[in-house]
Amino acid sequence: MKALVLAGGSGTRLRPITHTSAKQLVPVANKPVLFYGLEAIAEAGIRELGLVVGDTHAEIEAAVGDGSAFGLQVTYLRQEAPLGLAHGVLIARDFLGDDDFVMYLGDNFIVGGISGLVDRFVRERPTAQIMLTKVGDPRQFGVAELDAAGRVVGLEEKPVRPKSDLALVGVYLFSQAIHAAVAELKPSWRGELEITDAIQWLIEANLRVESSVISGYWKDTGNVTDMLEVNRLVLESLDRRVSGLVDQASELIGRVVVEPGAVVERSRVVGPVIIGPGARVQDSYVGPFTSIGADCAVVRSEIEYSIVLPRASIQGVGRIESSLIGHDVEVTPAPDTPKAHRLVLGDHSKVQISS
Ligand code: G1P
Repeated sequence: MKALVLAGGSGTRLRPITHTSAKQLVPVANKPVLFYGLEAIAEAGIRELGLVVGDTHAEIEAAVGDGSAFGLQVTYLRQEAPLGLAHGVLIARDFLGDDDFVMYLGDNFIVGGISGLVDRFVRERPTAQIMLTKVGDPRQFGVAELDAAGRVVGLEEKPVRPKSDLALVGVYLFSQAIHAAVAELKPSWRGELEITDAIQWLIEANLRVESSVISGYWKDTGNVTDMLEVNRLVLESLDRRVSGLVDQASELIGRVVVEPGAVVERSRVVGPVIIGPGARVQDSYVGPFTSIGADCAVVRSEIEYSIVLPRASIQGVGRIESSLIGHDVEVTPAPDTPKAHRLVLGDHSKVQISS
C-alpha cells in the first residue's frame, strides 16, 4: 500500500495568508495541517508516499524534506497546474504502479487517524473505499447518494441540488482499477479532472465501491472559520507542558503549553493555549483556543480563539478574537489624533473594526 498526498492547490479561500504560504502549511496548534495527515499515514503502516505539489513546491519540500522525520519515503510529483484531484492520480501513475493506495488531501483533517479505514480496505478488498460525513452545505463538496441498504449508487461534484447531506471526505482508498477510470475522464465544468467522476465511473462499471460514514470530526481546512475550529479541537487534546519561562506574576490555567525559549510575564493564560518557541507574552491575557506561533510578541493586549503565525507582533491593542494573523504582521495602536484607523493591508485581507 502506498500513499498519495495532494498538496498542489492554491488555497484561494485562505487569502491573504496563502499569497505567501501554502495552505497545507497553515499551522494548527503550531503544526502545519499537512503534518497531521503525514503522521496518520505513517501510523497506518504506510512507508512510500507520493507528494503532489504545485506552485508552492519549494515551501512544502523545505518543510517535509525526504519524509524521514515522519518515517516516510517521499517522492515529489510536480503538478504544473491545478487540473484536479484525478489529474494528481494521472501524474502519479508511474510512482503508484499497480499498488493499492490511499489518497489524502493535504488540507483535510481527520480525527482518529486512518488506520481503521486502511485495515478495513485490506480486509474487504473493494475496488474503492470512500469516506462520507454529514455537512451543513453539501453544495460545496462531492456528494454521495446511498440506497436503502447504504450502498453508494451515485456521486456528484458540487451539485446545485444535492441528493443527500453526505459529503466526500478527502481520504480515499483505491485499487489499481482507478487508473482505467481516470484515463477516461473529461474535464468538468470547472475545468478539472474530478476524482468524484472517476469513482462514479467505477460504480457504473459495477465495481465495488464501499463507503463508511465517519462521525469523527473532520474539516476541509480551506477557510478561516474551519481553521479556527480545527485549531480548537486539536488544542483540546493538549497536555500541559511548561518549558519556557513563566514569572511569578503570571497565572497559567488549564492545559497550557509554553515551548522552550518562550517568556510569559505579568500575564494570564487560560488554556487550552500553545505558546511557540521564542514567543513573548507580556502584560496580556491569552484566552482559550489560541495558538501563538514561534517568535511572536503579545504585549499589553488580549487575544482569544485565534491563530497567530510566527513572528507576528501584537502590542497595546485591546482585545482580539476569532482571528487568523499572518507571519510578521504588526498590530499596534494608532496615534491619538486624528482618531483614525491606519491600515497597511495585503491583497484580499479582511478586517473587522469594532468602533
Ligand atoms: C475536493 C473534492 C470534493 C471533496 C472535498 C473534500 O473538493 O473534489 O469531492 O468533498 O475535496 O475536502 P475541492 O477542495 O477541490 O473543492
